[in-house]
Amino acid sequence: MKAVAVLPAERRFDVIDHPEPGIASPTEAKLRMLDVGICGTDKEIVAFQYGIPPPGSRYLIIGHESLGEVIEAGPQVKRVKPGDLAVPTVRRPCSRPECFACQAGRQDFCYTGEFTERGIKQRHGFMSEFVVEDERYLNPVPPVLRDIAVLVEPLTIAEKAVTQLWQVQQRLPWAGPGYRRRALVLGGGPVGLLGAMKLVLEDFETTVYSRTPAASDLEKIVTGFGASFVHAEDASVAELAASIGNIDVVYEAVGASSLAFEVMRYLGTNGVFILTGVPGRKAPITVDTDVLMRDYVLKNQVIFGTVNASITSFTDAISDLDKFQERWPHSVRSLITQRFPIAQAAEPLSGKTGGIKNVIAVGE
Ligand code: BGC
Repeated sequence: MKAVAVLPAERRFDVIDHPEPGIASPTEAKLRMLDVGICGTDKEIVAFQYGIPPPGSRYLIIGHESLGEVIEAGPQVKRVKPGDLAVPTVRRPCSRPECFACQAGRQDFCYTGEFTERGIKQRHGFMSEFVVEDERYLNPVPPVLRDIAVLVEPLTIAEKAVTQLWQVQQRLPWAGPGYRRRALVLGGGPVGLLGAMKLVLEDFETTVYSRTPAASDLEKIVTGFGASFVHAEDASVAELAASIGNIDVVYEAVGASSLAFEVMRYLGTNGVFILTGVPGRKAPITVDTDVLMRDYVLKNQVIFGTVNASITSFTDAISDLDKFQERWPHSVRSLITQRFPIAQAAEPLSGKTGGIKNVIAVGE
């Protein structure tokens, strides 16, 4: 079968021929892949900055944001059946008995770092014609989400983040109905926009701040789902913060530490700062750590980072994507910029294609 793989030792990536997988255990299902999304992590992997092939393999099949159709199910598979659409999770547990997180099925909190990730770390990914997966990692998706379900995986980041946000904010029992919630989202890429949609759904007055040039239709998309849009050319971070008022949540989705730390000093009283971006190493920056530390203490602030997601976040993402589609059909569809056949995968992977979310339509 055809697959897109990176060969780090040879410094190249290509469409390769890979043996078609078959069901090997009664709890596995086989999928015909439909859509595989491309994100910043994939671009880093094909630029040889990230990603590790499976042990003994020269190459790593990439792709972790995906949607497939079940075409065959082992005799003990209960969660999905042939004909169902399904989205697989990405991370697989480590095998250490002392890792309480992985033992509990929460490999997104793995302690040892020995977890694996499909399409990223030591396991082939989903940018191939067929995939076999154990049913415990598969999430059934209603047919009505066929065109947008490739957004489930990036949405799980917001789902996990917002679940933790509410766990933290249980400390504010008065912040229920009647309390004016204000969120600032940094970044107008897929993670930022899906995060902003989730925050709007949770009744936050949400502002998206973007530095991306030529953001003309971005503004339309953002206002289309009820958030405000501010371009960095039109307002400094200080002006932006003054216009919002007490910022309850900052949802960072740019992976630029300089912007994140600049905005941190404007986080509101009792606010939470959520980091989702993974920055590349750049030159060190200067930050007024005294100001930040004073605020953390005197304003009861919380900062947390969040990676990957559990099966619950996938279930939540599937149900919220359905809500997004009902409320803002146009906005959610416009997150997907273009679909490319597998033979043209190099184009969007090289980063030359603009837009929001580019997708490889594997079956085409
Ligand atoms: C993926 C996560 C993964 C992370 C780090 C992200 O792009 O969505 O599932 O944990 O990269 O490898």
